[in-house]
Amino acid sequence: MIIAANLKTNFTRKETNSYIAELDTYVKNNAISQEVLVFPAMSSLDENNTSIVVGAQNAYPTKDGAFTGEIGTTHLDEFGIKTILIGHSERRHILGETQEALVEKFNYYKELGFKIVYCVGEPLEKREAGEAEMMEYISTQYEGIDTNYENLIIAYEPVWAIGTGLTPTLEDIASIHKELKKKSPAPLLYGGSVKVTNAKEVLAIENVDGILVGSAALYAEHFCSMIGFAEELC
Ligand code: 13P
Repeated sequence: MIIAANLKTNFTRKETNSYIAELDTYVKNNAISQEVLVFPAMSSLDENNTSIVVGAQNAYPTKDGAFTGEIGTTHLDEFGIKTILIGHSERRHILGETQEALVEKFNYYKELGFKIVYCVGEPLEKREAGEAEMMEYISTQYEGIDTNYENLIIAYEPVWAIGTGLTPTLEDIASIHKELKKKSPAPLLYGGSVKVTNAKEVLAIENVDGILVGSAALYAEHFCSMIGFAEELC
C-alpha cells in the first residue's frame, strides 16, 4: 500500500526534517514494507537520507527560467527529488491551474520518469448533481493524462471532503474507486479527512491502494499509526 502525507503549507524545514526522521525511525523499527511518501512545503525540501520517499507538492514544467514564484527541476535535482504531486484540488481551485496546464506539467514530469501522484475529485455541487454528472466531471480530469504511465499513482480526493471532517461513506468510496479503477491500472489512493480514527476502515476497502492524508498527517504519531494499519492489512 501507499501511505502519503501532504504537509501543504505547514512545517518549517527544521520541523519537516524531524518529522521525516520520526517516520523513518518508525518504518525501520517496525520493518514496514509499505511505501511511505511525504510532500513537504517547497522551502522545506532538503536532502533527506531516508527510507521515506520525499516529493514536491508542485513544480513548474521547466528546468529553470523566468517563472516567478515557481521552482523547476534544477531545484528538485538539488535534493534528488523524483516524485511530484499534480492536480491537487487546492491547485486546481485556489491557484487556478487548468486541466491544460496540468497535462503539460504531467507530460513534462512523465518524460523525466518522475513518480506522479495525480489527484482527481469532484466539488460538492457535482456530487449533489448525481452519480452520472459527478463521474462525468471526474472523467474530464483524466483528459490528456496517460493513465497507463508506469510511475503513476492516482489519488481520489472529493473536494468537499478535504479539510472538512466530512467523508463519503465507505460504500461510496468503494463504488467510486471501482469505477475509477476502470480508467487506469495505477494504484488508487483515497484522500479527504482521513484520520487515525477512520484510516483502518478506509484502507480495508476494495480498490483502495492507500491514502493521501493532509491535516491528520501533521501528527507524526497518528500518521505512523496509519502506516501501521496498512502494514497489518497487507
Ligand atoms: P485533509 O486530510 O486535511 O482532508 O486533506 C486531504 C488532502 O488534501 C491531501 O492531499
